[in-house]
Amino acid sequence: MGGLARRAGYIRAFELRSASEAPALFVDAGNFLSDDKFIAGQLPPEVIAKNRWVVKAYGQFGQAAANLSYDDLPYAAELLKKDGYASRVDDMPFIKRITSANIIPDQAHEAPAPYVIKEIPLKRGKPGTLRIGIIGLTEGKPVSTTEKDAQIAGFTIVDPLQAAKRVLPELKKKADYIIALAYLPQDQANLLATQNPELDLVVGAHQLSLMGDPAHFNRATITYAYTQTKYLGEMRVYLKPDGSIENQANRYVALDDAIPDDPAAADVVAGAHNDFTAEQSKGAQQAAAAAPASNLLGAASSAYVGVDQCATCHAREFEIWKRTGHSHAMETLEKRSQQFDANCVKCHVVGYEKGGFQALYSTPQFANVQCESCHGPGRQHVDRPEKGYGFMSTPVGCVQCHTQANSPDFNFETYYPKIKH
Ligand code: HEC
Ligand code: HEC
Ligand code: HEC
Ligand code: HEC
Repeated sequence: MGGLARRAGYIRAFELRSASEAPALFVDAGNFLSDDKFIAGQLPPEVIAKNRWVVKAYGQFGQAAANLSYDDLPYAAELLKKDGYASRVDDMPFIKRITSANIIPDQAHEAPAPYVIKEIPLKRGKPGTLRIGIIGLTEGKPVSTTEKDAQIAGFTIVDPLQAAKRVLPELKKKADYIIALAYLPQDQANLLATQNPELDLVVGAHQLSLMGDPAHFNRATITYAYTQTKYLGEMRVYLKPDGSIENQANRYVALDDAIPDDPAAADVVAGAHNDFTAEQSKGAQQAAAAAPASNLLGAASSAYVGVDQCATCHAREFEIWKRTGHSHAMETLEKRSQQFDANCVKCHVVGYEKGGFQALYSTPQFANVQCESCHGPGRQHVDRPEKGYGFMSTPVGCVQCHTQANSPDFNFETYYPKIKH
């Protein structure tokens, strides 16, 4: 998410520097949505929430277009579902700027736009507007060295080169300058440019970390996006006074600390992050409601019992624990809207992925660093309370959570007295 704010920050700085004289266009060549854990036709709620956020942020940052690659299809299928499509577009107008000329929907889905057109005002040289046509193309999903899967999430990926030949003559009538966003290997991108004289620029992506000079075929310049948001590919297009291309030069801008976050973009990121948390929360709630009763950690099925039970017999330890930071470790995450982030909760709860905490809605009794985070699952001890349960070796047990990264000041001699009971 931070990468996106920097990208927006750079573009905003560029616009300010050039006093809006050189218009900037912001495109994504594909693979901008996650298909992480796409199983049995379903994405998990947190992946949906993150993708939704990207689509919203692209809209708010004024992105001109984004190309659909095969990896984008599982979430694109949610966006393009006929059911509720109009209200989804109201909520996320960027849906209309997601483009592919070679992805065909089934009955239940809308087709993505085969191309989008963006008109930009020209200040230098010949005044007027330049109509920029942007077409999207992708290969099928490689499943082995020779085979590609063309059927994904209710869509069929057809031959990208044939689709380009079919659509480009039509687009040429409506646009002055044509960009192909191509999620294709390099030899295919070269063919695309050789076969289609309409193209001015091919922006490719293929999880490549190349930063070479662009190639040229016909009129077209071919350049590739860097695989991560670490570098922003920038193509400068210089036009002659008559509007034809004089020169196109590219470079890669490192999106490091030297690029300030655009404050407005940072606000969008913060706002979107809240949205994202609310979505995650809703998702977690729905998952809890939808889970069969046997999946919920009911009173009897977990090896953990939760602090309230321990408190009934160990009131003194409980009172001490309540005054330590361990007892409100979840509140700490909530303050930062990170209570649904699996990367955070694992150390701020009891028994994550070990039959304890799952999510705030389904297992709130296991939030916070509790007795059983240190003493281990207590069900058997509660059933038969006696000595011998729960010895914790220190400091080994502490540094499971008090790692160098998350607790750089940890020192057992000074920390232990603060939680001793
Ligand atoms: C029904 C009452 C009861 C409950 C509930 C209970 N305990 Fe105990 N616990 C005991 C008794 C009794 C002992 C033995 C005390 C003794 O003999 O010194 C004990 C001992 C312990 C010991 C020390 C073991 C030792 O060998 O010295 C720990 C640690 C402990 N309990 C933790 C917990 C935790 C954590 C929970 C909640 C998961 C819990 N207890 C719930 C009654 C209970
Ligand atoms: C399950 C993970 C986990 C384990 C195990 C753990 N801690 Fe912590 N500890 C945390 C977290 C998370 C916080 C931050 C709590 C907060 O303020 O949100 C914390 C905070 C603390 C603090 C600062 C808060 C305060 O009350 O002053 C001390 C001291 C501390 N831990 C000591 C220990 C010691 C000593 C051990 C080992 C005996 C230990 N912890 C084991 C997760 C853990
Ligand atoms: C490997 C375990 C671990 C992970 C993962 C982890 N934390 Fe923590 N966190 C701790 C421990 C331990 C402390 C206590 C640090 C200390 O006081 O020395 C802590 C403390 C904190 C504090 C400071 C509490 C305070 O007020 O002093 C915040 C905020 C926090 N964590 C947020 C997060 C967030 C957000 C994430 C996810 C990005 C996260 N943590 C992931 C173990 C972890
Ligand atoms: C951060 C880790 C941690 C947490 C959280 C924690 N304990 Fe302990 N507890 C220890 C350590 C370490 C000892 C001393 C070594 C041992 O006995 O394992 C101890 C000792 C005990 C003892 C034995 C005391 C004695 O006199 O021998 C009991 C009982 C106990 N804890 C109960 C609890 C209960 C109940 C809670 C929750 C309300 C709790 N502990 C939370 C780490 C923890």
